[in-house]
Amino acid sequence: MHKDLEKILVSESEIKEIVERLAAEIDRDYQDKDWIMVGVLKGSVLFMADLMKAMKNDFKIDFVVVSSYADGTESTGRVNVLKDISQSIVGKDLLIVEDIIDSGNTLNFLVKYFMAKGANTVKMVTLFDKPDRRKVEVPVEYVGKVIPDAFIVGYGLDYAEKYRTLPYVGILKPEVYS
Ligand code: IMP
Ligand code: MG
Repeated sequence: MHKDLEKILVSESEIKEIVERLAAEIDRDYQDKDWIMVGVLKGSVLFMADLMKAMKNDFKIDFVVVSSYADGTESTGRVNVLKDISQSIVGKDLLIVEDIIDSGNTLNFLVKYFMAKGANTVKMVTLFDKPDRRKVEVPVEYVGKVIPDAFIVGYGLDYAEKYRTLPYVGILKPEVYS
């Protein structure tokens, strides 16, 4: 285990089980659609790669980069699009892939943003959900695991751009960010 972690919250094998369950659900629901999986960089990158590999049906992929955190652990509430989607989404079904939903600001913004650009449907899959921290209600269709209110890192999730490459998810020691 990484020295900055208090404990491992979700092991590699549990992540694998979660990803396979979500892939099967999404495969079933999207099998007849011409759709785009849209990853929110950078946090979703490991999750999305494993999710795609576990799916049987074909689909298009794209990425957006948004920012609302300035190297801290609290959402500022303002969401900026730093890199937009690179194909037309008019009339398309979109599935946004997120690492974690916390305040809900990012996903709430992105759904409205893509609908305003003409998407047919915009649904969401998140690997982790911290419902205790929600500030805006967002109906997420696919949730990997509900977790307690703690700051987690690993498997794509960072603190100040660190720990993203860990293959498991752990709770950061509070002294690392306080
Ligand atoms: P929201 O906009 O507050 O829902 O936050 C969503 C984004 O905040 C995620 O995409 C993550 O990048 C980041 N985030 C929220 N909670 C955590 C956490 O516990 N660890 C790492 N990043 C987090
Ligand atoms: Mg982040």
